[in-house]
Amino acid sequence: MTTTPSLTQDELKTLVGQAALQYVVPGEIVGVGTGSTVNKFIDALATIKDQIKGAVSSSVASTERLKALGIPVFDANEVDSLAVYIDGADEIDGKGHMVKGGGAALTREKIVAALASRFVCIADESKLVQALGQFPLPVEVIPMAANHIARRFAAMGGQAQLRLRDGQPLVTDNGQYILDVRGLSITDPLAFESDINQWPGVVTVGVFAHQKASVCLLGTAQGVKTLTY
Ligand code: 5RP
Repeated sequence: MTTTPSLTQDELKTLVGQAALQYVVPGEIVGVGTGSTVNKFIDALATIKDQIKGAVSSSVASTERLKALGIPVFDANEVDSLAVYIDGADEIDGKGHMVKGGGAALTREKIVAALASRFVCIADESKLVQALGQFPLPVEVIPMAANHIARRFAAMGGQAQLRLRDGQPLVTDNGQYILDVRGLSITDPLAFESDINQWPGVVTVGVFAHQKASVCLLGTAQGVKTLTY
């Protein structure tokens, strides 16, 4: 491992984005996540675009970036399975459980991840945590259920806030809202994810425990660390 002193967070994201290319299977379609770290991966992917068939994307934003770089984008319904899905995370714990959805793309991210045999998480070391829950938990909800769901989180000690953009509720690629929930203690991510997913009006909870990472490429001052789960 090469030592990489004084790299900025942005440079660490570039490093892990490039390192993820080793997991891309030549001739196949790759699953692509969303966010600033994934943007670095997309830029790296463009350098080998002639070696892949294309991508399935998890957001309108990633689709636009992929297409702008000349990478063909397939609808998720056009593929039966993917060898690999590459995405970032807002938090990742020592078992590969993640919190995701800071970019509001969690529902499509979970769908594309479900198609893939392997989830490769790319993240800078600020994302590695002992236990999930410091980052406000994103939950995509049906708009008419937002206040009811916020009250349910309050009953378990969380404070849910409707995510806004320009003073208006942020509307996801799926036409829904996002609640960001602070103050939760997520001691059992698998049970927590299963539980919240049952609440009426919840589209997707941003805990990825049932679809955890298989591998995490972590950008650190000592270089890219590969964590396997
Ligand atoms: C988007 C996500 C992202 O993967 C997560 O927010 C990390 O983003 P970034 O790489 O910009 O830190 O879940 O919904």
